[in-house]
Amino acid sequence: MESDVFPDLGKVAENMSDEKQNMPHHVAIIMDGNGRWAKARGWPRLKGHQEGANSLRAILRACRDHGIKYLTVYAFSSENWVRPKSEVSGLMNLLKTFLRKQEHELHENKVRLRMIGRMADLPAAVQQELERVMAATAHYTEHHLILALSYGSRTEITEACRAIAREVKAGQLDPEKITEQTVAQQLYLPDVPDPDLLIRTSGEMRISNFLLWQISYSELYVTPVFWPDFREQEFAAALADYAKRHRRFGDIK
Ligand code: FPP
Repeated sequence: MESDVFPDLGKVAENMSDEKQNMPHHVAIIMDGNGRWAKARGWPRLKGHQEGANSLRAILRACRDHGIKYLTVYAFSSENWVRPKSEVSGLMNLLKTFLRKQEHELHENKVRLRMIGRMADLPAAVQQELERVMAATAHYTEHHLILALSYGSRTEITEACRAIAREVKAGQLDPEKITEQTVAQQLYLPDVPDPDLLIRTSGEMRISNFLLWQISYSELYVTPVFWPDFREQEFAAALADYAKRHRRFGDIK
């Protein structure tokens, strides 16, 4: 498929060898299109999510191979709770299975598991599994897999505002001294640098309440490929496209 909006994957991959690979440190992904992928095959939506979990495994390995330190994925938004009960419970079970199956590989590749979002919204069994794997991998520094779960960016920013307001009320902070840094320090993971590259699969041109503060200067890459089909080759094409970008951060250079 060739269009101005979606680059031809073959051509982008071909150009890869010519590009001096300028790698992102942090890649964030809106993993979209699981349902449509399944529907196109006449399969239940959950099958799309299961295959989507396999894509996540593949992209996590690709991040290790490319030396990408941070991978943040939108696994369940604060808006996704309105989906049918069976889909929500299917996704929560899939998450538990993913954590159990993936733990060995996280250790093998020294990946620290982290999460952003409202942990308390998740079922107790998922919280337990998450806490366990996050604690078991907390000492790794080389790679970070960050799962956005019951995550909404407006909620994250609102909670940060509340924390800042509390400090002002307690007389610990002068409102005139509030800077962008003050706000950034109150977000879920203040030590994690902003994403360099934001990928969205399935062709939708939306941000969907994902990392609104953190993606201010991220490069955007939207591909029509559904998430279950997004594997190493598609990821390599996204990285090659990123490598050609000239990031100016508002400057004219
Ligand atoms: C969007 O596709 C995807 C989700 C809401 C869930 C993402 C979950 C996974 C990729 C499963 C693996 C993740 C973990 C951590 C186990 P959609 O259902 O909105 O697709 P559609 O727009 O085609 O309906």
